[in-house]
Amino acid sequence: MACVLLFGRLLPFSHRLRGTSICLLSLFLSYLFYCALFPDGAIMQTSGDPTPSCHRADGAKRRLQKSLSCLLPSDARLSAVEASRLKADQRPHFAHHTAGNGTPSPPMSNLKFGNKKLPNAIIVGVKKGGTRAVLEFIRIHPDVRAAGTETHFFDRNYDRGLDWYRGLMPRTLESQITMEKTPSYFVTKETPHRISTMSQDTKLIVVVRDPVTRAISDYTQTLSKTPDLPSFQDLAFRNQSLGIVDMSWNAIRIGLYALHLENWLRYFPLAQIHFVSGERLITDPAGEMARVQDFLGLKRIVTDKHFYFNRTKGFPCLKKPESSGSPRCLGKSKGRTHVQIDRDAIEQLRDFYRPYNVKFYEMVGHDFKWE
Ligand code: A3P
Repeated sequence: MACVLLFGRLLPFSHRLRGTSICLLSLFLSYLFYCALFPDGAIMQTSGDPTPSCHRADGAKRRLQKSLSCLLPSDARLSAVEASRLKADQRPHFAHHTAGNGTPSPPMSNLKFGNKKLPNAIIVGVKKGGTRAVLEFIRIHPDVRAAGTETHFFDRNYDRGLDWYRGLMPRTLESQITMEKTPSYFVTKETPHRISTMSQDTKLIVVVRDPVTRAISDYTQTLSKTPDLPSFQDLAFRNQSLGIVDMSWNAIRIGLYALHLENWLRYFPLAQIHFVSGERLITDPAGEMARVQDFLGLKRIVTDKHFYFNRTKGFPCLKKPESSGSPRCLGKSKGRTHVQIDRDAIEQLRDFYRPYNVKFYEMVGHDFKWE
């Protein structure tokens, strides 16, 4: 601007026009030169974008971490483990570039490697069984990548189509398997047929837990969101003095594992369904994860080296990765203190579930030893 003013004062009118053009041209050339030097510089930042670092694409690893966090959904319910895994899902996973602890350090140029594939394996249930723990533990494996959040494709979003579903999956290399978990699938009538239509080879994982404890856990969760909920007994029984249980209450219905499994066995052979003990997942996470890895045809990489018992949490947590970071426990909504339910109601529910449990043990060929 100073240049334009100077020419305006010093030169006659005919020359002023040419002088002004020269000034504008030189300004334009300076701008081009500046852009070439700072391709993602302050111009973007002054454009009013509230998260300018999200648009940066320089090669520094620190910046990569920053921009990855920009991609994360702001789901306040995610725990440290879930959030960090979700971050991991936004970045590529390089089976052959891991340091044995599943923490990849990919070169930037490989960011787009792999394809989004429909899941080879799905954790289909059960709610409050320990499904998040299984997903977080199995995805340490370098040959597993998983969708971070529950997709609810086969129960609530089926109309959106398989391409929509595939789009929710992380990129995987040929050698890696894709997974997701949506615990409500196990109790949704249409789900087995829909999954078998996608692929009859889909491997299914069900995390089961004593149905009485599961129901109390489920109720505790609902109560935390709806404080004026009727009492557990009011919901669980039609008539408690006669011991008549309300089977239509979801918290009760979900625990009728034998009935739900019958529906799945119409579409999948038993050998294609793996049952994880929710109880043993807490007392022996490495043992349960060894069986999960065998079932998925994976090398046993997730072992007791990965776990430690966190006394404060009262649950197993993942050890600090060798490279960096801190130990990782599941979030506050996993491992809550349960609402106290009186002994009689618990006994009545045990009596109610016993025949269904026995039937379930027979069907799967395993005694889970729920009292
Ligand atoms: P509670 O909160 O009742 O204890 P889901 O992820 O399917 O909702 O299951 C939640 C349950 O996972 C928790 O129920 C908890 O008992 C169980 N769980 C298993 N392993 C766990 C772990 N390592 N950390 C926290 N919770 C775990």
